[in-house]
Amino acid sequence: MKKIALGCDHGGLDIKNAVRDYLEAQKIAYTDFGTFNTDSVDYPEFALKVADAVANGDYESGIICCGTGIGVSMVANKVKGIRAAVVTDEFCAEMTRRHNNANVLCMGGRVIDRVKAVKLAEIFLNTEFDGGRHEKRINMITEIENR
Ligand code: RB5
Repeated sequence: MKKIALGCDHGGLDIKNAVRDYLEAQKIAYTDFGTFNTDSVDYPEFALKVADAVANGDYESGIICCGTGIGVSMVANKVKGIRAAVVTDEFCAEMTRRHNNANVLCMGGRVIDRVKAVKLAEIFLNTEFDGGRHEKRINMITEIENR
């Protein structure tokens, strides 16, 4: 069964909570690694918790939200085995799964609203990797990571 790791900073709290409510409603297992209120926090701390949880195999995918989605994606992509993508539209939510086999979705609470965040999470979680010619490219990313 899919298990999702969730996280955010204060800038992404609202959309993270919307995604959390969606996962609850769909009975999809998840852990919310925080933050849990609007106090200002440092996004690297929360992004790293989610990225580590996915990288160590405890969770199939991660969803991390900050103000833009950019900071958390930078952090997550520093972790070996993580392919994190900042997504703001439906097409990219689908393609980053189909072509990039992304395992972490990053979104910005100052960029998209709650409804869009849930839609993008839904697409991300329900789209499979195409494999085939894309497999080789993902392996090339892994090789770069292992240099
Ligand atoms: C916090 O103000 C903001 O910098 C953060 O949420 C994020 O947008 C960073 O990329």
